[in-house]
Amino acid sequence: MEKRTQSPKRRRLVLVPCPYQGHITPMLQLGTFLHNNGGFSITIAHTRFNSPDPSNYPFFQFLYLDDGIPKHEAIPADLIAVLLDLNVNCRASFEDQMRRLIGGGGAGEEVVAGVIYDEVMFFCEEVLSDLKVRSFILRTTCAAASLARMALVRLNDEGYFPLKECMLQDPAPELHPLRFKDLPISLTTGFTKYPTLVKGMYNLETPIKAEAIIWNTMEWLEESTVSQIKTKSTTVPVFFIGPLHRTASARTSVLTEDFNCLQWLDEQADGSVVYVAIGSIASLGEKELGEMAWGLANSQQPFLWVVQPGAVRGSEWIEALPDGFLEAVGGRGCVVKWAPQKEVLAHRAVGGFWSHCGWNSSMESLSEGVPMLCSPCFGDQKVNARYLSHVWRVGLQLENGLERGEIENGIKRLMDEEQGREIRDRAKHFKEKIEAHVKVEEDQCSSRTHLKDLVSLLSSF
Ligand code: UDX
Repeated sequence: MEKRTQSPKRRRLVLVPCPYQGHITPMLQLGTFLHNNGGFSITIAHTRFNSPDPSNYPFFQFLYLDDGIPKHEAIPADLIAVLLDLNVNCRASFEDQMRRLIGGGGAGEEVVAGVIYDEVMFFCEEVLSDLKVRSFILRTTCAAASLARMALVRLNDEGYFPLKECMLQDPAPELHPLRFKDLPISLTTGFTKYPTLVKGMYNLETPIKAEAIIWNTMEWLEESTVSQIKTKSTTVPVFFIGPLHRTASARTSVLTEDFNCLQWLDEQADGSVVYVAIGSIASLGEKELGEMAWGLANSQQPFLWVVQPGAVRGSEWIEALPDGFLEAVGGRGCVVKWAPQKEVLAHRAVGGFWSHCGWNSSMESLSEGVPMLCSPCFGDQKVNARYLSHVWRVGLQLENGLERGEIENGIKRLMDEEQGREIRDRAKHFKEKIEAHVKVEEDQCSSRTHLKDLVSLLSSF
């Protein structure tokens, strides 16, 4: 009898991003890489809330999770509460969708090789364990932020919190170079909910069931942290595959980017413009907006400022800008609702980035050699700001919140030819290092090698 050869089934990966821009972006970039380089079919299991337009990703299949999160939480008043709600609300529809996918794929041309979920969407783990589907965790922060978050539970158990105001500047135990004030919590709000979130994200109460943990960072950038993580993670492989935006060129923006600002940049002198953006989820009070505005105006430096609609609490957009500000800055300033940030940072006119230090923004800035003025708002941004200013030393941190005098001085120091020279030189050096790093294949610490090993692992099932 003739022997029938069976062609191998195509492998499908399901990706579950947390529905905020800073998380959606690295997940879509990873999906693009795995589709283009690993030959995987990709399903994005997304909430209906804050979804990117699926028509921009014709090569991905989208399926939707019922999340119960209202639209106005796109800039959340209480992020931790929304993240905890997501973990409760999405579970049933995720399980349902996964059952259908596995059922449908079993007899056909495809097999579900695994699910990569954002660390924040930790409800996936139990569902996948029940369904016997392999899981992989994507951590979208730097490695140092992960260690700091894990340490919070220990510090809480040791009775450090609520922390006394006078201890904010003290070194955080076992977390050098972080001070207590750099830890990713707000000391005034929400700590009671935080341990639940952190325990879920880091599987602190059950052994890790995932097949691997993936970080969007580089091993060489965080050598000592990575080695601590490797020591702790002896049972599960870890991959450091950043910066993902240099690995896969995907347009990932949920909001519409205003490309006109690139023309405005074309008219500015080389290295003269301060680009100002605070990411996708931070918000400002009217007073902070006013301090930012006058700090920028008084610095006399040209600036491109992103103010996302809804980011100023109580305003639609920039109605709360102080009287006289727009007249004072005239053509020296350009304010937009959302910018094509990667193109902006790569523009020859941009000489500094005043940033909230989200991890994507930090890596995008490092990759373009743009020095930073660091104004972290919350969470991992505080860890990133400390590393940017005191370890990699490519940034200056505004230590006292948003105050016009400090802002003006910070901008002047950063942009001044002499005062900012060292920081600028170091930032250029990082750009060169990253350029070289993304090309290296042989080095076992390089992200390319980690990506190759990750593809092998995903393909081995
Ligand atoms: C948040 C956290 O702050 C971040 O540290 C974490 O790792 C992910 O969740 P977010 O605050 O939005 O993210 O900041 P960031 O990580 O910097 O991501 C923002 C993204 O939006 C960046 O990729 C940036 O390029 C993009 N962006 C921002 C635009 O495309 N246009 C803009 O105008 C502003």
